[in-house]
Amino acid sequence: MEYGAGHMTVDPLLKFRERFPILSKKTYLATHTMGAMPIGVYDALKKYADIWNKSGIDAWDEEWLQLLSKNANTIAKIIGAPDNSLILHPNVTTCIETVMSCLEFSKRKKIVSSSRSFSSQLYLMKELERLGAQFELVEPRENTILAQDYVETIDDQTLITLTDHVLYQSGQLQDIEPIIKKCKETGSYIFIDGYQAVGTVPVNLTKLGVDFYAGGSHKWLCGGAGTAYLYVKPELISRLRPRFTGWLAHANPFEFKEPPIKHAENMMRFMPATPPLPSFYASRVGHEIILDAGVENIRAKSLRQTQLIIDHCKELGLEIITPLIEKQRGGMVCFKTGNDQLIHKQLSAKGFVFDSRPKAGIRISPHFYTTDDELDEFFKELKRVIH
Ligand SMILES: Cc1ncc(COP(=O)(O)O)c(C=O)c1O
Repeated sequence: MEYGAGHMTVDPLLKFRERFPILSKKTYLATHTMGAMPIGVYDALKKYADIWNKSGIDAWDEEWLQLLSKNANTIAKIIGAPDNSLILHPNVTTCIETVMSCLEFSKRKKIVSSSRSFSSQLYLMKELERLGAQFELVEPRENTILAQDYVETIDDQTLITLTDHVLYQSGQLQDIEPIIKKCKETGSYIFIDGYQAVGTVPVNLTKLGVDFYAGGSHKWLCGGAGTAYLYVKPELISRLRPRFTGWLAHANPFEFKEPPIKHAENMMRFMPATPPLPSFYASRVGHEIILDAGVENIRAKSLRQTQLIIDHCKELGLEIITPLIEKQRGGMVCFKTGNDQLIHKQLSAKGFVFDSRPKAGIRISPHFYTTDDELDEFFKELKRVIH
């Protein structure tokens, strides 16, 4: 498939296309599930192997320890957080588990979330009932979760509210400010899973005043699996004691002291053990590209292209699950065709990469590397198979 040179002049973000080899072979519309791989990952992984091979155990002091904070602080720049307020984890589920393990369900027992929250959150909360937690779920109206429904559910019995910045089954960008405000008023915690937002929606954690925020590199940050991050509001860091812990979270990890653990005073208290170093090399490449491209620019393009998708869907009379209002829209669009799985199979065979999920229907997403022509091609082919 060829893309008109005209796009190169009107869309400065398309200059990044050449760094993503898969884009010359496939029509890649699946960043909401896994971002395309930047070519620089090959060299980055070689760099990891080279230093391990050259320095052995000394690699920790020469590079690896610095890499932990360097990567965390790069992500902090993307999400408007101060240096040293993030710790890296292999996945978001571990970030959530780490925070939940700091809580006692003695006085306040209530956890608020929604039935549309990511399944890891729901599974973890259900298991916390064994420790005395009680959870209450906000339900969507049609396909939309209303902030007001969260606000009415959060009360002085609530210990923590867990919610997604962008919902994975609809692409709804939630209005999180009133939810954060209500948590503050009731003296409860707020945790936001930003996996579906960061890299396509501008985020400023300092301005938001949120307590905990987590996300990963696999999707919109184009950083592959294995590098997730947990933000903890700086004034909370030293007040929280994770039960999910280990040797590396100790203030003096190499002294291997008897228990109980004396947690490190900084974010290291939230990292229990040896991290997945190769993925920290690989993911940096994507993080730097996103910083270079600029999330504000990515968002402007995403709003324009998600609107193009919505227009195509309307033209074909499809049921659109994603909110139509710009400020309620993240980076993907979900819609139903009546036969999503078959359509997915047929279009995948033609080189279109996207997915379909039970409540969401078909999910497709443009990113900064997507051309308008690719979206037009997708809908041309879709029209051919549904009619
Ligand atoms: C909102 C959201 N949170 C979390 C995850 C996955 O998290 P983890 O890194 O734990 O696999 C996904 C998708 O895979 C997601 O869409």
